[in-house]
Amino acid sequence: MFTLQALPAKQESLSSSELIAIPFTKKDEIFQFPFQASFVKALEKTLEAQLTDELAFFAATGKAGELFEFPISHSDFDADRILLIGVGDSSSSSLRTAGATLGKRIRGKAIELAAIAPQAKDEIRAFAIAVHLGAYLWNQKSDKTLEIPRAIMITSEQEIIEEAGVISNAITFARDLVHTPSNIKNPQWLAAEAVKISEANGLTIKVLAGKELKEFGGLLAVGNSSPKPGPRFVEISYLPKGKKKSSSLMPHVVIAGKGITFDTGGVSLKRPYDTMTAMKSDMAGAAAALAVINALPALNPNVRVTVLMAIAENALSGSSQRPSDVIKHYGGTTVEVINTDAEGRLVLADALAYADMNLDPDYLIDIATLTGAATLGLGRQYAAMYTRNMKLASALMAIGEANGDRVWHMPLIDEYTDALESDIADLNHTADKGDYSAGSVTAALFLEKFAGNRNWVHLDIAGTARSESDSGENPKGGTGFGVRLLVDWITSLS
Ligand code: BES
Ligand code: MN
Ligand code: ZN
Repeated sequence: MFTLQALPAKQESLSSSELIAIPFTKKDEIFQFPFQASFVKALEKTLEAQLTDELAFFAATGKAGELFEFPISHSDFDADRILLIGVGDSSSSSLRTAGATLGKRIRGKAIELAAIAPQAKDEIRAFAIAVHLGAYLWNQKSDKTLEIPRAIMITSEQEIIEEAGVISNAITFARDLVHTPSNIKNPQWLAAEAVKISEANGLTIKVLAGKELKEFGGLLAVGNSSPKPGPRFVEISYLPKGKKKSSSLMPHVVIAGKGITFDTGGVSLKRPYDTMTAMKSDMAGAAAALAVINALPALNPNVRVTVLMAIAENALSGSSQRPSDVIKHYGGTTVEVINTDAEGRLVLADALAYADMNLDPDYLIDIATLTGAATLGLGRQYAAMYTRNMKLASALMAIGEANGDRVWHMPLIDEYTDALESDIADLNHTADKGDYSAGSVTAALFLEKFAGNRNWVHLDIAGTARSESDSGENPKGGTGFGVRLLVDWITSLS
């Protein structure tokens, strides 16, 4: 496993690393070493190197992520290279770019990097997480064993580095689940992963399958398209150490994740067909939720958290549901199925109703790769967030701007509610009556019907859960979007 470690600002701390990274910036045409300047100066002296000369030689501009390397040779250090890494304006966002560049530099190599870290806690954390995320690699190539790099952060803030490690491990865990192909990742496998990791972190977990799911009409309608092994409903709970469930001072957060292990569209087969290949990531919401709750014991926030994973495969088979079927959700609401490719809202409807009726949540969040329309509206950098609670919306937006999991507050447009009308059931599930075309909005309005009167937030991560190219902190494939957002939000509540 990738390791992040903190070591104090002493030259001995650098002695065994293969690479030494020094952040720089350029202001008013002058090169600067913004972090731990006196330590950098002493290092320059030992190495008999002039870093500013090197930077001038490379015609460096100081922008975030700019990387230059020059050779060194000194008996006190194993390193044979210094990496000069641009940090731009030293904002958290620039530090994420810089950290990710360093991470990418050591990706897939069994080498150790020591990096001079920023001073402020938030900045150290952003930088360290980004190094790990940039170094992330997942593949199943059979021709070589995976080499794992290590990163040392030169800082006295040991606790911050540990916290960064907990969060970056959670993000990369979510990525691993998303990257896993669907011939391995069937619903039974995903539920078993949830059991494994929850038990390892001291969480309580319950898995429902088969007959135990008879009230979960949406999950069954979708998941019985692939009856072997069929769908799963997972419930995981976190309680801070030494707390009883009944403590009324502690808020209860419930997070429900869409866990479609593969989305063919069902009988309403996805077209054009090449859009289907990305659909192994249709469980990214459930993966993020699982990763969040597994990070909590190490961070010990004073919040009660329950995670629900609605896990099913949306397959095309003789037992697939049909367009025009009427199903009954958890709690009794009936729904006319129109397009079987809108399966996410069907499995989430059960999870939301279950949470509302059984768990008494103070906050009810769902996270789902729900609609292509969310990506049309916002692209891949912002997730679509729906909620009627303005305070909650601004809190989540601010947290995302700070930590990189950015969300945009979208409107729940009441005039579009008649899109949900059905002649024969309580609701029509595709929400396409009236031709409003706002597919992400009408999907949110559908989900809201199942959230009761709760403080509900819907995160449509269809655009952000997956990256189409290898860029910055994100590899091509699963990003782990939502983990940082929800972990930081939960810890802010306590
Ligand atoms: N999983 C898809 C949404 C999606 C699309 C996620 C692209 C990531 C990338 C979802 O199940 C879906 O198929 N939604 C349909 C809904 C429509 C049929 C109402 C869509 O967005 O086209
Ligand atoms: Mn679909
Ligand atoms: Zn889907």
